[in-house]
Amino acid sequence: MNELLRELLFLPRQSSSVARGIDTLHYSVILITTLGSLVVAGFALYFVVRYRAPKHWQELPHAAAATTSNTAHTATATPKQTPLWFELSFIAFLLILFCGWWVIGFRQYVELEVPPDDALEVYATGKQWMWSFAYANGSGSKSVLYVPTKRSIKLTMTSRDVIHSFFVPEFRVKQDVVPGRSTTLWFQVDKPGRYAAYCAEYCGEDHSTMRATVVALPEPEYLKKLDDLPSLDVSGPEASDPAQVGDAPRHPLSLAEQGERVAVKHGCLRCHTVDGTPHIGPTWYDDFGADIELQSGKHLTVDAAYLTESMMDPLAKIRRGFPAIMPSYQGQLSAAETGALIQYIRTLGQPHETAPHEAPLVQQGAEPVALPTRASAAPREAPSGSQTPAPEAPSVRPPISQSEGEKP
Ligand code: CUA
Repeated sequence: MNELLRELLFLPRQSSSVARGIDTLHYSVILITTLGSLVVAGFALYFVVRYRAPKHWQELPHAAAATTSNTAHTATATPKQTPLWFELSFIAFLLILFCGWWVIGFRQYVELEVPPDDALEVYATGKQWMWSFAYANGSGSKSVLYVPTKRSIKLTMTSRDVIHSFFVPEFRVKQDVVPGRSTTLWFQVDKPGRYAAYCAEYCGEDHSTMRATVVALPEPEYLKKLDDLPSLDVSGPEASDPAQVGDAPRHPLSLAEQGERVAVKHGCLRCHTVDGTPHIGPTWYDDFGADIELQSGKHLTVDAAYLTESMMDPLAKIRRGFPAIMPSYQGQLSAAETGALIQYIRTLGQPHETAPHEAPLVQQGAEPVALPTRASAAPREAPSGSQTPAPEAPSVRPPISQSEGEKP
């Protein structure tokens, strides 16, 4: 019966300890309300047939009277009135039904909201547009959440940028993930397997690609898997303060990596994006060395001096098209942090021709940015000028030039 209804309602598998109970309530609401509307519709149909007007209704002697004084007619035509107790019990039945569902639903809500005390805690971070997970043993994973079966799992979640929502349809659990706050969600999986997780809150362009997989393993395999997982990505937001001994990374952080942590720590990324997405403040992607226009109409090139001035005295040179709302970081950012931030911004995006002398100071250890560079764009431009076409480029173009040449 459960399986039949689940299929009928297009629901995914029931893979968590709470899924069956939630679905049962769902079924009862759907079934009883459907049954109720069918009964009402049935009565309506019956009345339509039973009390339909005869063919020559207009010619009947009482027709004229009925149309002129309808109330008088019905009063005489319906001698029997529905008893009051029937109407009251009908209302009471509906009220009890409603309250019963509410009580069951509320109990399920409380069950979902309060994780069991012995739950295993995993930290989850949402950001545009991926999920990352951190486990108690110091390891981490991206886009895949490993959990043991037959054990309550409590996710403590936060967001790095905008509101996301962690949703595993097969577990029937969903919870918003909010920047600057932590929210929790718990579940227990009974069978090993892979379960799809989604972001269920529209969070920008690639919201639909923000997915993850929950992999449930038997406890021994889970423990083995945890040992195999890489240690936390230290350049990520999971470890808050680079100076804390507990977060000591396995390899020394590059300056740019430290800059990223500074940016996370001071909340820079709440207004500035690092991938070119427009936001409250100018994006840092491809920003270093760029020629920009100020509100005063002047132009300047973004360099270390301009970035430093903008951190300490943000209102001095406001960019055209951006609000003057950035607070000053004077006294909050140390010189080293300012330098690390600049280095981080410098490594985002492609190097600008306008500032070749501003080559990165420290590159080793910094993660290579897999983005188009000037170097990769150059070969395509060069052949057209030097008339020694690269083997790939002409294979596309000749058919056009040939057909044009044959016509005249
Ligand atoms: Cu994250 Cu939608």
